Amino acid sequence: MTDGARVFYLTTPIYYVNDRPHLGHAYTTIVADAMARYRRLAGDDVWFLTGTDEHGDKIAQAAAAAGMTPQQLADRNSAAFRDAWRQLGIQYSDYIRTTEPRHTKVVQAILQTLWDKGELYLGKYGGPYCFGCERFYTEKEIVEGKCPDHQTPLAWIEEENYFFKMSKYQAWLIETIERQPDLIRPERYRNEILGFLRDPLQDLSISRPKSRLSWGIPLPFDDTYVTYVWFDALINYVSALGGPGDARFETYWPHVQHVTAKDIVKPHAIYWPSMLKAAGLPVYRHLNVHGYWTLGGRKISKSVGNLVEALALKDTYGNDAFRYFVLREMVFGLDADFSEEALVGRLNADLANDLGNLVSRATTLLSSLAPDEQPALASAAGPHQRVRAASGEARKIVDAAMSEFAFQRALGALWEFIGEVNRYIDTTQPWALAKDPTRKPEFHRVMVTLADSLRFLGIILTPFLPDAATKIRHAVGDVREPRLENAQMGRDDRLSRVERLSGLFPRVEAIKQSDSTDAATRTRGTPPTGHADPAALVTVSDFSRVELRVAEVLTAEAVPKSRKLLRLTVSLGSEQRTLVAGIAEHYAPAELVGKKVVVVANLVPAKLMGIESHGMVLAASTEGKLAVLTVDRDLPPGAKIT
Ligand code: MSP
Repeated sequence: MTDGARVFYLTTPIYYVNDRPHLGHAYTTIVADAMARYRRLAGDDVWFLTGTDEHGDKIAQAAAAAGMTPQQLADRNSAAFRDAWRQLGIQYSDYIRTTEPRHTKVVQAILQTLWDKGELYLGKYGGPYCFGCERFYTEKEIVEGKCPDHQTPLAWIEEENYFFKMSKYQAWLIETIERQPDLIRPERYRNEILGFLRDPLQDLSISRPKSRLSWGIPLPFDDTYVTYVWFDALINYVSALGGPGDARFETYWPHVQHVTAKDIVKPHAIYWPSMLKAAGLPVYRHLNVHGYWTLGGRKISKSVGNLVEALALKDTYGNDAFRYFVLREMVFGLDADFSEEALVGRLNADLANDLGNLVSRATTLLSSLAPDEQPALASAAGPHQRVRAASGEARKIVDAAMSEFAFQRALGALWEFIGEVNRYIDTTQPWALAKDPTRKPEFHRVMVTLADSLRFLGIILTPFLPDAATKIRHAVGDVREPRLENAQMGRDDRLSRVERLSGLFPRVEAIKQSDSTDAATRTRGTPPTGHADPAALVTVSDFSRVELRVAEVLTAEAVPKSRKLLRLTVSLGSEQRTLVAGIAEHYAPAELVGKKVVVVANLVPAKLMGIESHGMVLAASTEGKLAVLTVDRDLPPGAKIT
């Protein structure tokens, strides 16, 4: 830690591993990364945490549906999130997974503390329960008294669970939120929570019986129960620092700020402060809440496929353009709409036109200066006041906006400045000045102003456009570690050799053009195959990792107590295997015997309803219909599909 540096600890939600990383997760993580980079630029001691939430019903069910164990699913998808952040250039300090022992240990220690302090008690919980889904439903989720998934009537089940005495913190919580007006921000979410707290607060069930759900952290004082997933998950913010008593915890915890979207304000604004208070730990400094991305104005459906595709556009248009678009387009706190057209619009207008042209025009002029003009430049009277003042104004707005997560305002101010410098070039006409020997001093002053403007931009743009900012700094010969204190014009009269930098953000002529042979535009259009999502294309070598074989079904039987699963024995020629396939709703066992189906032969084995499955039967499906894949000529079992 630098002497006298301010300390800053920032977290994202930990993402559920039943999903693939998509635009929504990426936005929160980009926001946090931009903020962490800004605070590092300011010289602060920054700790930036992200990670994955890996326990609970949702994960257990998704794993079963995928034919994997929960841990296998968690390992695979947690790695997918990590990989997405690597691709996006996210510079997190730590990545926590709730299945790690370092997390489990702290969760159990906190539970034990709460138990010892009498903050928890064993009580009864009753609610509508679906045996098919193995879970309780809330009144809101029920459709005409039935399970929305199985269309079967729900049973009223009463179950003993451990409860956290959350209700006793209601008055304290209201008082805390009222005393710190920016504890939950923007204000609309603070008001929402205060509104919610007008009704009596209930105690919180913090356990699930192991007999119903075993995928969780056992309660330290009763191992017939596991911890409710939210109670487990929220503690990640503490466990990642080693927990109370750890030096890292003591350094960073007093400065913690969380970022989440509006969907999870309640656990963060009600459960979490109450839990912290009960455990004797200080509450966070700020909960920063942003809105939801919609696609084409529609509410996001349950299927997140199109959000995944939206994130894939980072590969088409580049990380900086993607990052710029989401930071600029969403007013932090409100919902915003994402579309490829809008992204391309901003890319062309703000990045190619405004910034790209400025950099290209200025570096073209500066790089063509003769070496003997350098001394004259060094003695010029510093940058023109008009531009210098504009940079000072932009910097002030950026600092104020960043203190409240108003990224769009910070970027708006910087683009005001970029516009000002472009106008400055238009009005001073340096090309004309250069040709007139009597106006050389004026020309030199314009050059100094431009070099200094680019130096300013090369530093201040770092959190928002990390790659482009680095290129700008290098073009103007600024090889120093970027620091916010150097983002000021008129302070630095060092002049380095400038290199021409053009095409920083090439214009995108048209989206979705497929017949261009120009490589630069080709990557931006739909590839010639006509596939809608270039990032989803696989290479021959990707494909060859999957071993597909013809398998003959020898026996088939229903798996007891399961609606969906069949147990198959298949022959792969040289060997026989047991497979579990989720096709019982579409095939009677007898129909399958003798069929030659297609299976994935090199899948990691997985246990489903206690049966180990060694491979997967391929099937095509659409709207409730399903058909297994077969080969259309007779081939011996074991034949390889290439
Ligand atoms: N695991 C919990 C969080 C536990 S934190 C202690 C969870 N996970 S999640 O995978 O569902 O992530 C929710 C978060 O993802 C949102 O709060 C937000 O950060 C991000 N988003 C997911 N979809 C989103 C949009 N459509 N728009 C913006 N952000 C969204 O909840």
